[in-house]
Amino acid sequence: MRVRPASPDEVRAVQTRVLRPDGPLPGDRPHPASWRHLAAEVDGHVVGAVSVGPAPWRRPDLAPLPRPQWQLRSMAVLAEYRGGVGARLLAAAVATAREAGAGGLWATARTAALGLYRRGGWRAVGEQWDKAGIGPHRYVVLSLWADHRARERPEARA
Ligand SMILES: CC(C)(COP(=O)(O)OP(=O)(O)OC[C@H]1O[C@@H](n2cnc3c(N)ncnc32)[C@H](O)[C@@H]1OP(=O)(O)O)[C@@H](O)C(=O)NCCC(=O)NCCS
Repeated sequence: MRVRPASPDEVRAVQTRVLRPDGPLPGDRPHPASWRHLAAEVDGHVVGAVSVGPAPWRRPDLAPLPRPQWQLRSMAVLAEYRGGVGARLLAAAVATAREAGAGGLWATARTAALGLYRRGGWRAVGEQWDKAGIGPHRYVVLSLWADHRARERPEARA
C-alpha cells in the first residue's frame, strides 16, 4: 500500500462510495479547485482517500487555531482495506498541509473516527452535534504552529 497525491477524479469514487452510499446530501459542496487530494493505492487501485485545503476555521469560539487555517475532509477507506490505512492517510494529509504552510488544521469528525484523530495528535473541541443524514460529529483541531516557530527560529528545535 502506498499513499500518493491524486487528482479529484481519482479520489471521488472511493469518497462517494464510503461517505455518501445513499447519494449526496443537501449542503454538500465539491472540494474547491485549490484543494489537494491523497490516495491510498493497492495494486494500482485506489482503496482510500482524503482531501485537504485552505478554509477558515468555522468555530474560533471553541478554540484558537493558528493561520493559515486548512480543513481536512472526506477521509474514507474501503471497508475491506481498513486497519492502518486511515492513519497513513491522516499523516500524509497533515504533512501536505504543513509543507504548504498551513498553521492549523480542522475537521468535522464522525464520533466513531475520533480515536483515529486523537492518535494523530488532534484535539476534539466543543460538544457533539448531529450532521443531518450522517450522525454524530465533533470538531477536531491540530495546531501546526510549533512547527512554524521551529522553522522561523531554528534554535527552537533543540
Ligand atoms: C475512518 C476510516 C477512514 C479509518 O480507516 P482505517 O484504515 O480503519 O484507520 P486506522 O486503522 O488507521 O484507524 C482505526 C480508527 O478508525 C476509526 N474507525 C474504525 N472503524 C470506523 C468506522 N466504521 N467508521 C468510522 N471510523 C472508524 C476508529 O477511530 C479506529 O480507532 P479505534 O479502533 O481506536 O476507535 C475508515 O474506518 C472509514 O472509511 N470509515 C467510514 C467513513 C468515515 O467514518 N470517515 C471518517 C469521517 S471523519
